[in-house]
Amino acid sequence: MNDLFLRACRREPVERPPVWMMRQAGRYLPEYRAVRERADFLTMVGTPELAVEVTLQPVDLIGVDAAIIFSDILVVPQAMGMALSVDEGVGPRFHHPLRAAADFDRLRDVSPTADLRYVLDALRLARRELAGRVPLIGFAGAPWTLMSYMVEGQGSKSFTHAKRLLVQDPARAHALLERLARAVGSFLAAQVQAGAQAVQLFDSWAGALGPRDFREFALPYLATAVRTAREAGAPVIAFAPGAGWALEEIADATGADVIGIDWQTDAADARRRLAGRPVALQGNLDPCWLYAPPATIRARTHQMLTAFGGRGHIANLGHGINPDVPVEHARAFVDAVKEWRAP
Ligand code: CP3
Repeated sequence: MNDLFLRACRREPVERPPVWMMRQAGRYLPEYRAVRERADFLTMVGTPELAVEVTLQPVDLIGVDAAIIFSDILVVPQAMGMALSVDEGVGPRFHHPLRAAADFDRLRDVSPTADLRYVLDALRLARRELAGRVPLIGFAGAPWTLMSYMVEGQGSKSFTHAKRLLVQDPARAHALLERLARAVGSFLAAQVQAGAQAVQLFDSWAGALGPRDFREFALPYLATAVRTAREAGAPVIAFAPGAGWALEEIADATGADVIGIDWQTDAADARRRLAGRPVALQGNLDPCWLYAPPATIRARTHQMLTAFGGRGHIANLGHGINPDVPVEHARAFVDAVKEWRAP
C-alpha cells in the first residue's frame, strides 16, 4: 500500500512528499464529464456507485497519492432540511436562505448515520475498490463557511447577509455555529468509522472575516469540529483559505494534524512560522500555474517543494484545480512532485 500521505500527515520520514489536488475529481477530467452527462451533480453525490467511480478517476488517470471522496460541503445543510440545487453555470443555491427567526427554528439536527448514510456508503465502497492502493480522505465544510452559505443562499463576493447576521444578531449566529460544529464533528467522526483514513475541514470563506471576527465566529467552531473528528482516530487537516495571517492560531486552537496553506501565503514563510509546532503542512501551488506549459509547471512545483523542505509536507495546490486545466498539465504537476527529492 502507498501510505506516503498518511506518513506525511504524521510527519514521519518519507522518500518524497505525497501529492493530491483539491477538486481532483472534477470537470477538468473528460472521464468525469462523461459521468456528469449521464447524471446531474447532486445525483452523482447521492449515488455511491457514481461517487466512487469519479473518486477513483484521478488515482487511475493522474497517479495521485490519495483519493478524496466525491461529495460536497453543502450536504450537511441539505441534511438539516435546506432544499439545495446545483445549476449549470450558477453553482450551488439554497432555495430558502436563512433570514427570519422561523427559518433558523425549522432546521433539523443531523444524524450522520441516518441522514448522510449515502456518503458513508460511498466511503465504504471506495475503500473496498481502492483495495489499499492509496489512502482515502473524507471531508466537510467548517461551521462559518456552512453558515455563510446557508444565510447567503449562494456564493457571494461580500457576504453582506451572513455578516449582517454577525453584526445584528450575534447570539443567533453563535447558536447556529454551535449546532453546525456538533453536526460537522460527528459527521467527520462517522466518516472515519466508515473508512476515511484522514479528513479535511474546508473553511473556504474564512477570508471574508477580519481577525477579530474570525477569532469569534470561525476559529472556535472550526476547533470544536477538529477536536471531535480527531477523537475518531484519524489525522485531521484544517484548511482556511484567506486566513493565512492566522496559521499559528489555527494550529494552536484546533490541534489539527495538518494545516492547509493557501496560494496567497508564501511557502517558506508558512514553514518558518509553523516550525516547532506538531503539524504537517499541505499546499500550496497557485492553481493558475497549471495553465503554464508543463516545463514551467515542473519548475514552479520544484520551487514550492524546496520552500516547504520535504518532511512534514503534503504537496497540493493552494486551492481547487480549475475546470479548464488540460489533463496533461495536472499530470505534469503530479509527476514533478514524484521526481523531486529533498536536497
Ligand atoms: O476535492 C474533490 O475532488 C472532492 C470533491 C469536492 C467537491 N466540492 C466537488 C464539486 C470537494 C472537496 C468540494 C468542496 C466544496 N464545495 C467547497 C470547499 C472547497 C473550496 O473550494 O474551498 C465549496 C465552497 C463547495 C461548494 C460548491 N460546490 C461550489 C462553490 C460549487 C460550484 C463549482 C462550480 O464552479 O460550479 C460546487 C459544485 C461542485 N462540487 C463541483 C464539484 C466537482 C462542480 C459540479 C459540476 O460537476 O458541475
